[in-house]
Amino acid sequence: MRAATRPIPLSQPYVDEREEELVLEVLRSGRLSLGPTIDSFEERFAESVGAPYAAAVSSGTAGLHLLAHAAGLRPGDEAITSPYSFVASANCVIYEGATPVFADVDPRTLNLDPAAVEAAITERTRAIVAVDIFGYPCELGPLQELCRRHGLVLIQDACEALGAEYRGQRVGAHGVSAVFAFYPNKQITTGEGGIVTTHSEEEWRLLRSLRNQGRADSGGWLDHARLGYNYRIDDVRAALGLAQLEKLPRILELRTAAAARYTELLAGIDGVETPLADDDEHRRSWFVYVVALAPGIDRERVIAELERAGIGTARYLPSIHLQSYMRERYGFREGLCPVAEDLSVRTLALPFFTAIEPEDQERVVEVLASAV
Ligand SMILES: Cc1ncc(COP(=O)(O)O)c(C=O)c1O
Repeated sequence: MRAATRPIPLSQPYVDEREEELVLEVLRSGRLSLGPTIDSFEERFAESVGAPYAAAVSSGTAGLHLLAHAAGLRPGDEAITSPYSFVASANCVIYEGATPVFADVDPRTLNLDPAAVEAAITERTRAIVAVDIFGYPCELGPLQELCRRHGLVLIQDACEALGAEYRGQRVGAHGVSAVFAFYPNKQITTGEGGIVTTHSEEEWRLLRSLRNQGRADSGGWLDHARLGYNYRIDDVRAALGLAQLEKLPRILELRTAAAARYTELLAGIDGVETPLADDDEHRRSWFVYVVALAPGIDRERVIAELERAGIGTARYLPSIHLQSYMRERYGFREGLCPVAEDLSVRTLALPFFTAIEPEDQERVVEVLASAV
């Protein structure tokens, strides 16, 4: 196939012989689950983000659910969260019977606007689920302060933000319980998988019990102290995760360079707004590269032209409150979060992954520029 027509996928994992080697070791060890590779993965992960404890789970969604459960959410409670996110950050509170309340996002950061969060607090509010969307760290400081003042639990959905930094520390290091995810489009992957980092030993023990059918600390296999779930990760995936963690510094470096290349290529192209740059307090970990098209540009036509050229794209992200099940269950309508709703119809993810080739990025920008 000629280079000019080679398809460019939206994303691609970054794995090599090291992953094969560690996975094979686990397969040959006979300990495929509840084994020592999980402990090693958790220890290394916690260390890499600067959190004292980490509990690996079967997905990011499972981790968010466990934190919503640990927060003691129940029917009648409200949890404030972002409408401009992946649905799991809102679903996790619904699993516990609580009601999601959507506060609008800041048009610059695309993350929850702390002023909008404060305005949404009622006497029923129990928690805030803050998302680091597209790897850009959320306003942790102001949100932590709001939670202190109003007695709320803060849950950080850092599923897209491994390696991001807020006020000079990695996401995960700020004392807030955070969830990271490892689906293959993420910075590192375990196939499916996730992890919860916490600064509380008590919460860590609870998470380990909840993910494992509520098993008691006694270690008895059929001794169940509480209602739990099977949200376990297995040692095969943990081995993948360990190999990926070894590469994390390189992965972050390559992704930063790829993002900088897009930003440079897109400079001066009318009608395409590039992602917000870092500042003193926020350092993004590049998860995806999402541009905003100027109002008036027909996004569907742009997507069609990219697809015709074999270039993968995605409409990141639709507003959660306008999903059909949300409208039906809670009566949410257009106009609830105007900033998120406006972004949702204008934003577009370009192909982005650790080993993306510079020539492919050039071709993406060429086709995009001619489409707009
Ligand atoms: C912001 C956000 N939250 C939660 C999740 C859920 O993670 P998972 O797909 O591992 O359940 C994802 C990943 O897809 C995500 O991007």
